[in-house]
Amino acid sequence: MDYDDAKEKIKHILSKNKEQSVQQVVDFLQSNFELYSWVGIYVVKHNMLYLGPWQGDQATEHSKIPIGQGICGAAAKTGKTEIVSDVHSDNRYLSCFISTRSEIVVPIKKNSKTIGEIDIDSDTKDAFTKEDDLFLKEIADMLSEHIHNQ
Ligand code: SME
Repeated sequence: MDYDDAKEKIKHILSKNKEQSVQQVVDFLQSNFELYSWVGIYVVKHNMLYLGPWQGDQATEHSKIPIGQGICGAAAKTGKTEIVSDVHSDNRYLSCFISTRSEIVVPIKKNSKTIGEIDIDSDTKDAFTKEDDLFLKEIADMLSEHIHNQ
């Protein structure tokens, strides 16, 4: 799907401001972008990441990740996007699914503080580009006011 169309659709989902809005955005991303095999939102609480809404074939055992651990923990620590083009050659990687080949993690910020992140696993190697990063940063900004970490 085209990034601009997706942004409009996601804006629309969030404008309804329903309790399930974040889950609906996750579902939307996972079903409309072929390379986004698994999409999840982690929320920062007490120096840990807790899994929130997610969509994909399987649940992950990593529903709680300490800040600083794994690709997710690294992005939360630095507040910067992590793109891993080949998860098997990154020793920080915490494995969730056998089929995963690449991963992107984009922090969600409120007042410049990281309050959560969008984590996407792809079953395709090297699936994520700078364009995905820019697109997902905009989605992260839209999601920010809908994420409650206190
Ligand atoms: N692979 C992540 C853990 C989360 S799962 O991908 C859903 C990591 O290395 O932090």
